[in-house]
Amino acid sequence: MKLNITCIAGDGIGPEIVTEARKVLDKVCEIYGHEIAYTDVLMGGCSIDAYGVPLTDETIETCKKADAVLMGSIGGDTNTSPWYKLEPSKRPEAGLLKIRKSLNLFANLRPAFLYPQLKDACPLKEETSEKGFDLLIMRELTGGLYFGARSTETVDGELVATDSLVYKESEIRRIAIKAFDVAMQRSKKVTSVDKANVLDSSRLWRKVVNEVAKDYPEVELEHMLVDNCAMQLVKDPSQFDVVLTENMFGDILSDEASMVTGSIGMLPSASLNETKFGLYEPSHGSAPDIAGKDLANPIATILSAAMMLKYSFGLDKEAQAIENAVKKTLEDGFRTGDLVRPGEEISEDKKCGCRRMGDLIVERIK
Ligand code: IPM
Ligand code: MG
Repeated sequence: MKLNITCIAGDGIGPEIVTEARKVLDKVCEIYGHEIAYTDVLMGGCSIDAYGVPLTDETIETCKKADAVLMGSIGGDTNTSPWYKLEPSKRPEAGLLKIRKSLNLFANLRPAFLYPQLKDACPLKEETSEKGFDLLIMRELTGGLYFGARSTETVDGELVATDSLVYKESEIRRIAIKAFDVAMQRSKKVTSVDKANVLDSSRLWRKVVNEVAKDYPEVELEHMLVDNCAMQLVKDPSQFDVVLTENMFGDILSDEASMVTGSIGMLPSASLNETKFGLYEPSHGSAPDIAGKDLANPIATILSAAMMLKYSFGLDKEAQAIENAVKKTLEDGFRTGDLVRPGEEISEDKKCGCRRMGDLIVERIK
């Protein structure tokens, strides 16, 4: 198979982690006899520096021509970077939101899985981490507060800021269908998360999700309020299979879910539209404080590349080969700094930087 990938390395640790993911993809393609071609484009702060905008139309077109997009991370230190002196619509994050919208990537899949090898890095009580967990957050990605009208105006002599949370039935239906479809491939449970005790958009969300559920009699559906869900995620994450939620709640809950896996450096993501096309990126940010120091954990990006093989190319065996290599590397005791708990002793030869972690995973691809 021929794989045409557009790469957005981005800012901060982005270039380092994407380099490692590409090494892993190259190795898998070599072993399984696929041909892979990359086209590099800029987005985020590096695009602002080069072209004055975080995302150019040419970059969008290049992404559209590819089979899939592999992304690192974008953005810088919001306190010190000159990018954050620009108006909000010209900052790095605006590029990310624009590409999600332009490519209609409405379904964001963020699996959070506790590797048995990382139980010690899990911050939860031992009796909870012992049970392990394997959940997937299905986050709506092109609606809600992120894309509703916003303004800041002076009213009666003071500033008033407004952000609107808008959802159409059709937007809720298509993401709910994705969630139920994915649940059918997993443990057949959907937890739909909302704030239906307060928000109209959540009450519509619940109504539409209930309608979609009728087409999936095998899938168990429960509704949960978002504040309760935040609590349940640290109390007992093993109760969840697919967590279906709107854009902002999904943003917040996915950071929480990633941390209970041991490190935010472990969580991959896939952003999909109605076709096989997808954009794959780690759920974490650009970590400008450690950029260029060979300290980043490349695993979330490597696992995102595995999701790409699975969802955009249907190469399940190849995706599994990457996941197995990651597991084996962790099993062999290798850790990047983020995977070592403060005070935990680990021998010098097991400590890894970004590059070495990538090499060790490449060596273990079968
Ligand atoms: C994420 C990020 C983005 C989001 C930011 C960088 C705009 O936090 O992908 O979770 O809020 O969606
Ligand atoms: Mg986020």
